[in-house]
Amino acid sequence: MTAGAHRVHHLTHPLIQHKLTLMREKERSTYGFRTLMNEIAMLMAYEVTRDMTTTLIEIETPLEKMMSPVIEGRKTVFVSILRAGNGFLDGMLSVVPGARIGHVGLYRDPKTLGAIEYYFKMPHGMHERDAIVLDPMLATGNSAIAAVDRLKETGPKSIRFLCLLAAPEGLKRFGDAHPDVPVYTAAVDRALDDHGYIVPGLGDAGDRLFGTK
Ligand code: URA
Repeated sequence: MTAGAHRVHHLTHPLIQHKLTLMREKERSTYGFRTLMNEIAMLMAYEVTRDMTTTLIEIETPLEKMMSPVIEGRKTVFVSILRAGNGFLDGMLSVVPGARIGHVGLYRDPKTLGAIEYYFKMPHGMHERDAIVLDPMLATGNSAIAAVDRLKETGPKSIRFLCLLAAPEGLKRFGDAHPDVPVYTAAVDRALDDHGYIVPGLGDAGDRLFGTK
């Protein structure tokens, strides 16, 4: 699926779709939601790293020497947009344990509704790293755009954006602002409501993950 020249990867694997359905259900407990988030993150990590480069190293099997491919996990940085992005981390790290972690904290200015940064910390040497930005919900696109604007200042080798759900409005805005950053999502929902929630959606991802409501 594409939006103009912008690449949108719809992750249609049945296991991802099944877990997403369970996460959407309003009666799902905090524990259940968090467990599913972990599981779906592992599966999505598999999809988002599909075209990662590998290098050949020499190893020795019990029978003989051979050249065999490995990925350099340490060159990958997962960039979590606080706070819901943290829900993706454990699952992603169980698949790419050597990855580095960056954090971006943003809040919405009540007057301008623009995204204001309150925290930004990346590993050093970003120019040799592939960044995967994590935020379960691509809603208005404001925080995603602001986070990627800021991340680009550190000059990573590549950037991908991973979410569970996207709204068509947010996807369009993000694609217009960052046509070079592909989006990986499990679903594109119908719309945004008047409060900026994705519908049908799954509610507030942060509250559901951390049990804050
Ligand atoms: N953030 C959320 O957690 N949920 C939405 O539906 C939109 C933004």
